[in-house]
Amino acid sequence: MSAMVELRGVTKRFGGFTAVNDVSQQIVGGEFLTLLGPSGCGKTTLLRLIAGFETPTAGSVWIDGEDVTHLPPYRRPVNQVFQSYALFPHLTVAENVGFGLRMKQVGKAEAAARVGEALALVSLTGLETRRPHQLSGGQRQRVALARALVCRPKVLLLDEPLSALDAKLRRAMQLELKRLQRQLGITFVFVTHDQEEALTMSDRIAIVNDGRIEQLGTAHEIYHRPATRFAADFVGEANLLEARLLLQDADCVHVAVTGGLELTLPLAAWPAGASVALIAMRPEKVHVSKLKSPADFPAGAANIFEARIEEEIFQGATDFLVLLTAAGTRLSAVVANESALGDIFHAGDRVSCGLHADDLVIVPAE
Ligand SMILES: Nc1ncnc2c1ncn2[C@@H]1O[C@H](COP(=O)(O)OP(=O)(O)O)[C@@H](O)[C@H]1O
Ligand SMILES: [Mg+2]
Repeated sequence: MSAMVELRGVTKRFGGFTAVNDVSQQIVGGEFLTLLGPSGCGKTTLLRLIAGFETPTAGSVWIDGEDVTHLPPYRRPVNQVFQSYALFPHLTVAENVGFGLRMKQVGKAEAAARVGEALALVSLTGLETRRPHQLSGGQRQRVALARALVCRPKVLLLDEPLSALDAKLRRAMQLELKRLQRQLGITFVFVTHDQEEALTMSDRIAIVNDGRIEQLGTAHEIYHRPATRFAADFVGEANLLEARLLLQDADCVHVAVTGGLELTLPLAAWPAGASVALIAMRPEKVHVSKLKSPADFPAGAANIFEARIEEEIFQGATDFLVLLTAAGTRLSAVVANESALGDIFHAGDRVSCGLHADDLVIVPAE
C-alpha cells in the first residue's frame, strides 16, 4: 500500500480556534475514502488543506510522494467538486467542462476530445450546448464532476457533492459515483455528514470529531467494531451501556450494565484491569423471540434474558422494538419482518432475548 495522500501532524488554527488538530493519516492510491463527521468537525478544512486552499499552521501535506505543503492549488494533482457545484452560469456545459483545460493551454482538438470523453463518462453526451440553468440538479452535479475529471487528477476531492439532491436521485448518484471511481481508479476523498452514504460508498471511512480522526477503517470495521463512544453513536444506531465488573474467572467476565442486566463476556474482550467500560450493541444483534409460556425460557444460558416490549414501531422491512428487561435495562432491538409466518411483535408481549458475546463491543469508558 503506497500513500497517495499523506497528512503528517497537520494542525490548522483560525485565530485561537483549532479546526484540525494534529492529524496524521495516509490515504491509499485508488481508494474511496470518506471523511464522516458532524457539521463543524473540520471535514471541509481537511479537504481544503489537501487541495491547497488552506496552509497548515503546523505539519505537512504530501501527495504522491511529494511535499506539496507550500504549493498553490493549481500546482497540485488534485481537483475538487464543490458542494455548490460552482458552475459558470454564462458558459455552456462544454465550456464549463473545458474551462480547466483552457487555463492549462491544452490544444483545441485535444481539449474537445477530452471534454467529449468526460461528458460521456457522466452520461451527458448531447447536452454540450446547454447552460447550467437549463439543467436539472442532477445534471448540474454531473457537469461539476466532468469538469473535475477532465483534468485527470490523481486525487478527486468531493465536499458533500450530493447534499442538494433529493433522496432518490442521491441514492442513484451514490452508486454511479462509486462505479465511476472503480472504473477510473482515481483516489476519491469524499466528505459527508450522512453515515448511510458513507457506509454505501466507501472503501474506508475516517470518523472525524472535533478536528481529529477518531477511527479509520472499512465500513464493516467502523460499523461492527466502533473504537470509541462517538464512533458507535454517530454511525448507525447503538445501545450504549455502562458496564461494571462484577466477577472475573478464568476466561470470562461477568458485568452488570445500566439498569441491572447481567452479561457475560470473554475475558479477552474486557480492558485489562478496568472496573468499568462501555458496551456498544447494535439493535439488530439482539435476537428476540416470542415467549409463549414461561417454560419456553431457556434459563441459565449466558446472555439470554427475559424482556417485555414497551414499544413496537413498524418500519416496513423491519420492526423497531423498545425492550425493558426483567432486570430493568432498556434496550433497542430491530427485527426483520421476514414473513407473515414469523413472530409478530406487539407492545406488551413477553419475549426472550439473546446476545452473542462477540456482538458486544467494548469501548473504553471516558
Ligand atoms: N476561515 C475560517 N475562519 C474561522 N473559522 C473557520 C474557518 N473555516 C472553518 N472555520 C471553523 O472551523 C470549524 C470546522 O469547519 P469545517 O471544516 O467547515 O467543518 P465541516 O466541514 O466539518 O462542517 C468550524 O467551527 C468553522 O466555523
Ligand atoms: Mg463542510
